[in-house]
Amino acid sequence: MGKNAETALLKQEPYLVIDHVNKYFVQKKQRLNVLDDINFSMAKGEILCIVGASGCGKSTLLRAISGLDSNHGGQIIIDGKEVVAPSKTRGIVFQEHRLFPWLTVEQNVGYALTVIDKEEKKQLVQTYIELVGLKGFEKAYPKELSGGMSQRAGIARALVNKPEVLLLDEPFGALDAFTKIALQKELKRIQRKAGTTMVMVTHDIEEAVFLADHIIVLDSKPGRIKLELHVDLPVPRNRNSYEFLQVKKRIYEEFFQDEKLPEDYSI
Ligand SMILES: Nc1ncnc2c1ncn2[C@@H]1O[C@H](COP(=O)(O)OP(=O)(O)OP(=O)(O)O)[C@@H](O)[C@H]1O
Ligand SMILES: [Mg+2]
Repeated sequence: MGKNAETALLKQEPYLVIDHVNKYFVQKKQRLNVLDDINFSMAKGEILCIVGASGCGKSTLLRAISGLDSNHGGQIIIDGKEVVAPSKTRGIVFQEHRLFPWLTVEQNVGYALTVIDKEEKKQLVQTYIELVGLKGFEKAYPKELSGGMSQRAGIARALVNKPEVLLLDEPFGALDAFTKIALQKELKRIQRKAGTTMVMVTHDIEEAVFLADHIIVLDSKPGRIKLELHVDLPVPRNRNSYEFLQVKKRIYEEFFQDEKLPEDYSI
C-alpha cells in the first residue's frame, strides 16, 4: 500500500470510541442505572452533540470522557489510548462557567496554561481573549461580566492549552436566546479555525442541529442511545431552511413520539 493510501485509511479510524460504557450510582441504598451500554465513535475534527432530557446522564457521560470519573464499565478510547484520568489534551467547559472570582479575565484564562515563557504566555492569553471577543476586558473580574461574557472567558480558558478535544457541558444553557445564537456562531467559527474535536452536551435540539456533524440522542432512565445521526447540512447553517427543520423534526419526534408534527412544520 502506498503512503497516501495508508494515511487515508488511518484518517478513517475513529478518533474517540465509547465502547460498552455502563455507569450506575447508589442513591438511598438503591442502584440507579444511569448509562446503559453506550456505544458510539466519532472522527477527529468532528463536533458531536449529545442531546437528552434533564437527568438522562449527559453530564455523567461527559465526565467519563473527560477522565474526571473513570469509575464506569466499558472503555473510552481517545486517539488509541484508554481514558483513565483527566488530561491537558482535553479542555472542559462546564455547565456553569466556574471562573475564579478573585482572578481577572486574563488571569483566569492563563491560570492552567502550561507554557512557561512569560512573553509567550501573555501573547497566547491575549490571542484567545480576542478569539472569543473579550478584547478590552482583560483586567475585568468575573463579577463585572455578563453571563455570556463569563462563558466566553470559560471557552478561552479551555482553548488556550490547544486541547485536542474540547468537552462542553451545556455551555450556553443559562444564556438568553440572542447571546446564545451569537455564541453558537462563534463556537462554530472557532472550531472550524482550530479544527478541534468537540463533544458538546445540550438539551437544545436546535443548538445541536446548528452545531453538530454528528448527534447522539439519549433516552432517560437508564440513559440509552435512542438515535444516532450525521448532519451533513452545509455551513453556515440556515435555521429556517427546510432541510434544517427536517433534521430538527426528526429529533423532536424521538422525544414526543405521540405528537407527530405535520409535514410543513416550521417555527
Ligand atoms: N454523584 C452522583 N451521585 C449520585 N447520583 C448522581 C450523581 N451524579 C449524577 N447522579 C444521577 O445520575 C442521573 C444523571 O445525572 P446527570 O447529571 O448526568 O444528568 P444530565 O443529563 O446532565 O442532566 P441535566 O440536563 O439536568 O444537567 C441523575 O438521576 C442524577 O441524580
Ligand atoms: Mg448535566
